[in-house]
Amino acid sequence: MKKVYVGMSADLIHPGHLNIINEARKLGDVIIGLLTDKAIAGYKRLPYLTFEQRKVIMENIKGVTQVIPQDTLDYTDNLKLVKPDYVVHGDDWKTGIQKKTRDRVIATLQEWGGELVEIPYTKGISSTQINQNLKEIGTTPEIRMKRLGRLLEAKDIVRVIEAHSGLTGLIVEHTKIKVENQVREFDGMWASSLTDSTAKGKPDIEAVDLTSRLTNINDIMEVTTKPIIYDGDTGGKTEHFVFTVKSLERLGVSAIIIEDKVGLKKNSLFGTDVPQTQDSIENFCRKISAGKSAQVTNDFMIIARVESLILKKGMQDAVDRAKAYLKAGADGIMIHSKEKSPDEILQFCKEYQKFPDKGPLVAVPSSYNEIYEQELADAGVNIVIYANQLLRSAYPAMVATATSILEHGRSYESGQDSMPIKEILTLIPGGQ
Ligand code: SPV
Ligand code: MG
Repeated sequence: MKKVYVGMSADLIHPGHLNIINEARKLGDVIIGLLTDKAIAGYKRLPYLTFEQRKVIMENIKGVTQVIPQDTLDYTDNLKLVKPDYVVHGDDWKTGIQKKTRDRVIATLQEWGGELVEIPYTKGISSTQINQNLKEIGTTPEIRMKRLGRLLEAKDIVRVIEAHSGLTGLIVEHTKIKVENQVREFDGMWASSLTDSTAKGKPDIEAVDLTSRLTNINDIMEVTTKPIIYDGDTGGKTEHFVFTVKSLERLGVSAIIIEDKVGLKKNSLFGTDVPQTQDSIENFCRKISAGKSAQVTNDFMIIARVESLILKKGMQDAVDRAKAYLKAGADGIMIHSKEKSPDEILQFCKEYQKFPDKGPLVAVPSSYNEIYEQELADAGVNIVIYANQLLRSAYPAMVATATSILEHGRSYESGQDSMPIKEILTLIPGGQ
């Protein structure tokens, strides 16, 4: 029997995929090179189904002989391993992101006289369309919660931005750009205490109660599918924290980040300009452990936020605390700084890499905002959080509009920069 290799993501299976497999089996034994989560997340969104789920589906499709992992978008390694007589693919990859991959497939096959067979693209159905429909249906708490863990496994760095309302949630969910034929979008949302409080006209001092914060999360969840990381401030009293953990977990929030401060919490970006007290290592460790014991699933994460650099306690204190918090059960560490330069964060990252046991490392480049995500990723940061940018950009625009109306005695001038009425009416589907 001849060997036929078919590379696939096989996330949203449709008749187009089955057509390719049918054509492939006419030529010989079909070996599916199933793209791993990492391979897919590198150029588009994370697949809905895990690798294992997709593998089981493919193994049970008529005509498939074997399913092997393909770790990169590029076929070369697997082709050299399998040495197939044919590679079968839809004819839709002659242009766009996959063109280079196609060229390399042809060149590699030539080494042993293999052949590329291209099947006409099945019209009227596409994964992009199904993906859009799925987003409209929504998600479940369990799928949403697990998604952060899957993203951490599949991506170099997970890109998160704040959302403080249904509308900002929609922006995070849908904003995407294409860079060098790769889709770039945000992976998840940060339920920031600063922006949630500010949007409610309150200071960031834990004055907005949990019920109100959860209502906000619910608004965001109603219109999005991406994972949420909750800013838990100090986590409050340990006796209360355990209930917060259970509530967030039940809703399908992926992680809570709590900071090692006690008493009246002030925003970290004030640094030492205002009185702020760091918790003792022992007490904070107890809070972390209690939270970990309270959660029901294995997927919910409690990330400990180290405020030592904010409070000028020094690098060694930050390192000691991070180690202790991980030992107490924290799933990961957030390290924060209010310096303009990223030096102390990068120094911490270096130390963190030496830890024998560690979880995901989170950075929030609000003040040191000249650093690129890739530099943080290279330093070992696993999650980057853009903590307040949507609110900070919206506020001056709104003030300028209000001022303009006062100045001119009419709204015509302010309207030049505003969204046209026709667009705001149709921005949210279902209003007509
Ligand atoms: C938030 O977004 O509320 C944060 C990050 O906790 S910071 O404002 O920098 O403290
Ligand atoms: Mg906060």
